[in-house]
Amino acid sequence: MGVCGYFVVSWKCLVVLSFRLLFLVPPGLPVHSQGDSQTDNKVMDNITVRQGETVFLRCPQGDIVTHTAWLNRSSILYAGEDKWSVDPRVSLVTLNQEEFTIKIEDVDMTDEGPYICAVQTSRRPRTTSVHILIQGDLASEDEYLDIPSISRQRAGTYECTAVNDIATDVQTVEITVNYAPSVSEGRDVGVTLGQRGLLECEADAVPEADFEWYRDDRRIFNGFDGMEIEDAGQLSKLTFFNVSEADYGNYTCIAINKLGSSNTSFVLYEVIEPTSSTLLQEPGAVQDGNSGSMGTHVHTYTCLLLAILQFLLRF
Ligand SMILES: *[C@@H]1O[C@H](CO)[C@@H](O)[C@H](O)[C@H]1NC(C)=O
Ligand SMILES: *[C@@H]1O[C@H](CO)[C@@H](O)[C@H](O)[C@H]1NC(C)=O
Ligand SMILES: *[C@@H]1O[C@H](CO)[C@@H](O)[C@H](O)[C@H]1NC(C)=O
Ligand SMILES: *[C@@H]1O[C@H](CO)[C@@H](O)[C@H](O)[C@H]1NC(C)=O
Ligand SMILES: *[C@@H]1O[C@H](CO)[C@@H](O)[C@H](O)[C@H]1NC(C)=O
Repeated sequence: MGVCGYFVVSWKCLVVLSFRLLFLVPPGLPVHSQGDSQTDNKVMDNITVRQGETVFLRCPQGDIVTHTAWLNRSSILYAGEDKWSVDPRVSLVTLNQEEFTIKIEDVDMTDEGPYICAVQTSRRPRTTSVHILIQGDLASEDEYLDIPSISRQRAGTYECTAVNDIATDVQTVEITVNYAPSVSEGRDVGVTLGQRGLLECEADAVPEADFEWYRDDRRIFNGFDGMEIEDAGQLSKLTFFNVSEADYGNYTCIAINKLGSSNTSFVLYEVIEPTSSTLLQEPGAVQDGNSGSMGTHVHTYTCLLLAILQFLLRF
């Protein structure tokens, strides 16, 4: 680009070249049109238009303009009021001392690119270039991705790539699949009196579920005596800091979102710690390593048997 006098000769170069010959610039020198001190080259802002819209290309003129033209790349669209382009979408809007404006209707992707206004004045040539950017509308091109009977597994990021000879456009679409909560089956929990108890309720839901806890039909709120409800995403925890007799019972967790709800119930039941009295009832239930007290238990057991025997022998 920018070297004139080769086979690819643009109108812009011709203007510069003729101007240079006029001033007897030594030929053979590489001539760069950009930054040439003897030509005014202006790069205007890009114009972004949507596909199908009309774009106006306005070129400021001046007092002593002798020739003026609008070019699409290197082909002339209009030279003065003479239309060179055969494209019916291109037409003249204004041509006077102040401005030279043409319009392109129903712009297409192929119209994207540089457009140049070349102005020859009695003093010096001047070019103004403007870059037309076409914004393609994916939806208007009827590109859809059909996902029949969407399921949770299909949630995620989808990428749509539109390719033409000028550019590649990638758009991403986040697909969220909403569904009603489903809670995992609650498991009954055994806790010894005075110990810490924990009931956990897990719900799979999008959007995330809100939880409610009930003791039978009575709603439990956070901060209730000795209890704490803690929600963390999919999980809700009901903690008893110190399980009392009254705490044993049936608890229900309900997970709710805008699409529905799901519930599960847990029974918090008492677990009797192995003590001397339980050992007496079930000697086989000794589980811990506390065998040092075994002798005492056996002793008590024997004494009791003897007492019963003595009692029976009375009759
Ligand atoms: C105009 O658009 C072209 C092509 O996308 C880009 O290279 C150039 O930097 C843009 N110029 C301005 C002034 O935004
Ligand atoms: C501009 O030039 C390109 C490439 O030759 C062509 O496809 C497009 O139709 C032209 N647009 C106009 C408005 O002349
Ligand atoms: C649990 O509660 C009982 C009865 O109120 C009390 O005697 C005991 O000290 C408490 N234990 C703890 C660890 O707070
Ligand atoms: C616990 O309560 C729920 C809801 O009231 C009920 O459906 C369930 O049968 C109860 N479970 C037990 C073991 O009582
Ligand atoms: C718990 O779920 C069952 C069905 O799974 C429903 O019949 C019942 O009404 C629900 N209970 C509550 C309190 O939402």
